[in-house]
Amino acid sequence: MSPFSGVIHLQKGCMNMKKLFALVLALCMALSLVACGGSSSSDTEDTTGDVSTADSVEDAEASVAADTEGTTSDGSLITVGFAQVGHESDWRTASTQSCQDVFTEANGYELVFVDCDNDSATQLEAVRGFIQQEVDYIIIDPIVSTGWDTVLTECEDAGIPVIVIDRTIDDSDKYAAWVGSNFTTEGLAAGEWLNAYAEAKGIEISGILVIEGTTGASATLGRTEGFQQIADSYGWTILDSQDGDFTQDGGQEVMESYCKSYEGQFNVVICQNDNEAFGAMTAMTNAGVSYGEDGDVTLISFDACTAGLEYVQQGLINADFERNPLAAPFVAEVIEQLEAGETPETEIYMEEHWFTYDETVSSFTVDGAEQTVTVVTDEVVEAQY
Ligand code: AHR
Repeated sequence: MSPFSGVIHLQKGCMNMKKLFALVLALCMALSLVACGGSSSSDTEDTTGDVSTADSVEDAEASVAADTEGTTSDGSLITVGFAQVGHESDWRTASTQSCQDVFTEANGYELVFVDCDNDSATQLEAVRGFIQQEVDYIIIDPIVSTGWDTVLTECEDAGIPVIVIDRTIDDSDKYAAWVGSNFTTEGLAAGEWLNAYAEAKGIEISGILVIEGTTGASATLGRTEGFQQIADSYGWTILDSQDGDFTQDGGQEVMESYCKSYEGQFNVVICQNDNEAFGAMTAMTNAGVSYGEDGDVTLISFDACTAGLEYVQQGLINADFERNPLAAPFVAEVIEQLEAGETPETEIYMEEHWFTYDETVSSFTVDGAEQTVTVVTDEVVEAQY
């Protein structure tokens, strides 16, 4: 389903010499970027430090990509540099795929992709590399929310518009647009769902353990703040809240330590993404702690990637709060507007949904706004990214 009402038809063109030179430089830059450790919990190829042109893929997003073609007024390809966070999660894989599906040569784009392996210095270096290459646009999913003003000023001075996706930048407004969703709302929704679920099931919340995402990431800050607000309002005890770095290994490690330190003291675990939840499930199983629909621990997760929803459907994760990774079509629309000399909206919000395994809680409210909960079925899993 295209998020845009109109189909945009644009002429395709050949890559000019400037673009060819930029691409060669991009390849050189990629080779100079050194990976900084870390482990991938996703099934996809590790593209650390890789720079590549985008490939077409045949999946549900292809129709979206076909609607978002772009070329410059002289018919040459539009060069887009994308400084991606890394490859730490299934969600991240879906986000990368979204860009690779949309920013294809067939759609009139040259994508220069850098996987920053969750390293902020690498991400700043990648953006500066894009400036040197004189790309037409820069996309950033900022690993952390601060430390951006200097490099964004450099982008501005170079006349290259920046589009921020997903995570936010809190110390600069020198970008053309941001595309994403509200992390604090996700945390608030998780908290209000938990309250409604505990009431419906007669569960008294004894102790809550949180496995946070990467320290300093707006995803972590927003989800933590939103959930904490609800915990405070209902007087819940958060026993501990530690960084699991949005990875499966990180989630497992933190949960193993929690199972030892807080044995018998907790009955709610909040994982700030699905991959952390997968790791936490392994740790709880190994420690003899039951979780999910029939277990002692209510397990809540964020992202709602396909594998996460499969666990929700099985009742092993009680509820999963979506983050939409398919920003690229919206970014392409922003680029179209900028190419046409128009001013895009500075904040573009994408829709997201809340999922659970049965009808126990079919709706609840966040700040007075009605929230609907979707029960995961085979069709829901199949339709997910
Ligand atoms: O910024 C989005 C978060 O980053 C997702 O929740 C997580 O899976 C990813 O690593």
